[in-house]
Amino acid sequence: MPFDNRVVREIQARVDLLAYVSQYVTLRKRGREYVGLCPFHAEKTPSFSLNAEKGVWHCYGCDAGGDLITFVRRYENMDFNDAVRLLAARAGVEMRESEGTRRRRSEREAIYEANAVAKGYFMESLQHTKEARAYVARRGLNDETCQTFGVGFAPDSWDGLVTALGRAHIDLQLALRAGLISTRQNERGYIDFFRRRLMFPVFNLTAEVIAFGGRTLGDEQPKYLNTRNTAVYTKGHHMYGLHVARRAAAAHEALIVVEGYLDCLALHQAGFANAVASLGTAFTVEQARELRRVASNLYLCFDGDAAGQAATARSIDMLVDEGLVVRVVRLPKGRDPDSIVLEDGRDAFAALLEQSQGWVDFKIELACARISGAFSRKADVAREAMAVIGQVRDPIERDQYVKTMARKLDVSEAALRSMRTLSSSVVVAQKNTSGAESPHRRGPGPVAALSVERELVALILVKPAFIDAVAPRISAEDFTDEDMARAYTALVRQRADLGRGINPLTLVADDPNIADLTHLALSSPPLDAEDEEQRLERLLDRFERQRLERRLWSIDAEMNRLLNQGASVPDALRDEYNSLAATLRGATIERKGAK
Ligand code: UTP
Ligand code: MN
Repeated sequence: MPFDNRVVREIQARVDLLAYVSQYVTLRKRGREYVGLCPFHAEKTPSFSLNAEKGVWHCYGCDAGGDLITFVRRYENMDFNDAVRLLAARAGVEMRESEGTRRRRSEREAIYEANAVAKGYFMESLQHTKEARAYVARRGLNDETCQTFGVGFAPDSWDGLVTALGRAHIDLQLALRAGLISTRQNERGYIDFFRRRLMFPVFNLTAEVIAFGGRTLGDEQPKYLNTRNTAVYTKGHHMYGLHVARRAAAAHEALIVVEGYLDCLALHQAGFANAVASLGTAFTVEQARELRRVASNLYLCFDGDAAGQAATARSIDMLVDEGLVVRVVRLPKGRDPDSIVLEDGRDAFAALLEQSQGWVDFKIELACARISGAFSRKADVAREAMAVIGQVRDPIERDQYVKTMARKLDVSEAALRSMRTLSSSVVVAQKNTSGAESPHRRGPGPVAALSVERELVALILVKPAFIDAVAPRISAEDFTDEDMARAYTALVRQRADLGRGINPLTLVADDPNIADLTHLALSSPPLDAEDEEQRLERLLDRFERQRLERRLWSIDAEMNRLLNQGASVPDALRDEYNSLAATLRGATIERKGAK
């Protein structure tokens, strides 16, 4: 997470967590902490807790937590950089930029400005174009929806927008680069790019207009004309409606994903404020990441016909790989959410959401649908279903699916599981080559190891200065708990920032386990300085001890393997085993010193 730590430090010095959060949450003092109703989930008794000294907040109800920046990210549904930008602006902290960055930013901002002028012009022209207003009414859009989403109309004119842009002192060269106007063929001057189309501005997460989609009022082709790629817009990288949906998604933790502009608008108007649209293209990784910045649960609404199902199935793998939790909403054949809400009403759509299916069930069902087909073999279906199940991350959930599958196919669980090992190792191998994540670690080890590791990370979170004593003695490789290892790595890597007074939670703010970490930080009991030193020593000793124990077990396993094969155990291995065992039996452990 590269960031300008001067800016972060200044923000943390100037913006008080308690004061900031108090703008949104009514807090009451209780003991050392402040408590209130959590803004991130619905509750009647306060479980949101804030410790002003530690600069930490945590909700015991929904397990969200973090520092000031995390709060802004959660509350505003923003990524780290946007949250820092927002806080810097509020606190009057100036952000330093390189010349290149400034130039790119000023081009971007100039395009936003041109697009804003265009949006205003289109909205204005919708007001006084009867034909367009009739179309909008026919599609069931009300004034409020049009206002919120900036719906407008590009009149049937060659240069209406060109003139409007000129009047607003927008450089026409820039408007050309923004895709709003085109050059005339064989002539000098410019013409409007969109003519006689209903206009839908596409906004980014911070509500700047980055592009437009324009729909014909009739049956002309193409039905939609979209802005070409520009410095601020790349086709297929954005989600329509996300700037509005993100507020609602903060409460629901879920987004409803549909295909079209009008589907998205119809859903918002019907009260589904967390709807967004993919705009017809196949889902991209960029879109998945944009969605994930806002919510991790998705309801995918796609056409119930075979082609729609196949397309949905293909998107799912990528979305799941990106860490999103996906449910599939099956629409009746040939219907889109727009027509369902308009013709059958809000409740009809709510019922479809209610009947949505988890992605694993959806894919298994697709696979099983072929059992009824004449020539499909049970083994093929089983293999395909197990490949799907192999993608499920939670082992308990995975186990449940295997059981269900065994019953469904009427085969033994054991037979299925032998297939599973195969397919999941394939999945792991693929993950490795793409460098996505390494499935090593979390080997067998005592449960106790976890608590020492967690305690150590918790101590560093509340006493960042300890990192200097810990870093030379313990490496991330020594951890068995992947989550703690990751947090520890982040803390060590940015040791210098900790020394300069950056809140450690900022350094781990991108960690998916951030809530767990803030919980740790809050639950770590306050001690006076001397006790803390002692606790650190005790933890380091236990850490060392566990490292030796693990080494002992692995030597033990290696010796067993050799003996089982009838081979002899090398002296060096036996010596190491004996000396480790002796050390561990002894009351104190000799420390190896810095490594
Ligand atoms: P649809 O054809 O389903 O259109 O395309 P729609 O949104 O339901 O519109 P209506 O109800 O017919 O008016 C879904 C989405 O695919 C993109 C648009 O984003 C559209 O909303 N699309 C479709 C294009 O970009 N260009 C096209 O020519 C057609
Ligand atoms: Mn439609």
